[in-house]
Amino acid sequence: MRGVRISLKRRRGLRNAGAAILVLGLTCGLAGAAGAWPDRLDGHGGPVRGIAVSEDRSELLSASFDYAIIHRSLTAGNSPILHRLFGHEAAVNDVEFVPGRPLAVSASDDGSVGVWDLDEGTLVTRFRDTGDKILDVTVSDDGAVAASAGWDHTARVYDLETMSERAVMRGHDGNVNTVALAGEGNILYSGSYDGTVRQWNARSGEQLRIILKHGWGVNIVRVLPDETHLLFGAVDGASGIVDIASGEVVADFEAFGGPVLAAAIDTDHGLAAVGSANGHLRVYRLGDWTLLNDYSTAYGPIWSVDFAPDGTAVYRAGLDDFVSLVSLEPGAPLDVAETDFPRRFQLTDDMDTGERQFARKCSVCHTLTPDDANRAGPTLYGVFGRRVGTLPDYPYSDALKNSDIIWSEETISRLFDHGPDVVLPGTKMPVQRLKDAEERAALVAFLKRATSGEMGND
Ligand code: HEC
Repeated sequence: MRGVRISLKRRRGLRNAGAAILVLGLTCGLAGAAGAWPDRLDGHGGPVRGIAVSEDRSELLSASFDYAIIHRSLTAGNSPILHRLFGHEAAVNDVEFVPGRPLAVSASDDGSVGVWDLDEGTLVTRFRDTGDKILDVTVSDDGAVAASAGWDHTARVYDLETMSERAVMRGHDGNVNTVALAGEGNILYSGSYDGTVRQWNARSGEQLRIILKHGWGVNIVRVLPDETHLLFGAVDGASGIVDIASGEVVADFEAFGGPVLAAAIDTDHGLAAVGSANGHLRVYRLGDWTLLNDYSTAYGPIWSVDFAPDGTAVYRAGLDDFVSLVSLEPGAPLDVAETDFPRRFQLTDDMDTGERQFARKCSVCHTLTPDDANRAGPTLYGVFGRRVGTLPDYPYSDALKNSDIIWSEETISRLFDHGPDVVLPGTKMPVQRLKDAEERAALVAFLKRATSGEMGND
């Protein structure tokens, strides 16, 4: 096949690994063009952190910095939105389908794991054990068990029948970044900032073994279909395949120039995709680990990937407010979708101090126009004179709904002098303060100008 490049460092055991790992697809599925689905899936109001395609490949979930999850159909031509799932109180980092059941599980910076009813588009429950970020979730193949990776140095396992916490894995010396389940939900693998991959009894929480001592923080662990090998990815750009029994790295992928952040496996078509913080996306063939595609983008990190239904394309997510579909045909570009990134984060010389403060510290979550563009926070259009928490279409926290502040120069200044957590305890606005009185005054003056509707600014 043209365009195929082999870039594995040959290591002892590679041949055996190739033989041992099941190659389930008969072809690698690169023949067809990706034409059945839109190039980009819009709808989020912030960078997209996690994506998942359902087991039957008919639906997609995306989790965003905008605090929301979008559930959409992949069977109709335009991949329409079925539900927007609201209930997290901070960025949502990951989301997964529960095989065989109309449920999804999510992980958020708000420290909780959410369980969602995908028929109704509602929150079923939230497990909130820690105040620390939760970065990753995974669900067992039978849909009975979920697990999460937390920055409180633990991994946790939940029973999705009883909707209760089943076990807590304690032993890592750092943030846990990634989890994977095997053995019908009885075995858990975890990867941590402490540089190790560990194996646990997912019923008791007991640590069984340290599988890999990589030395650098591990961001990604995935169990391969035969459950005898793991795919891992790390902060130093390393990734590869580990034999679970021996702990040996049997395939060592060419180093990425930045931390590895994303990976997906398509057993139907025998493919694996790996993405990095410096915008590289590579697709390998399962089993012999031939590198099939190697893309790069200038538009920032690849935070998440998953395969399109027919294995001829991958969905990828990063700093854009949308998910892009990338064709796996040789020579196809990675940046297929039109994007105006990074305009929203761009600072220009003609901005005054207040506008600069807003661009840096507020614009990722708030617009200044009537349309809130699905960002995490309500639009600040017309905010002066408005009572807190009163825009009809925005899902405010009780903290805002139950307060009687009227927004004015003085009250907005106070909000960032003392911090939202002090002025409105329980708010889902992040803890932030602008201690410099001059900068605060400039921000408020800019807001006063820009939210009156006189400027066409967002
Ligand atoms: C990471 C996202 C995020 C950032 C950054 C952020 N906010 Fe917010 N903001 C929110 C959310 C979410 C709410 C709603 C809070 C709630 O319901 O608890 C909110 C609410 C508000 C409100 C109350 C609006 C109303 O309708 O009552 C104001 C005013 C506000 N933010 C101003 C700002 C300003 C000014 C900045 C920049 C200095 C800023 N925010 C930065 C997320 C953010």
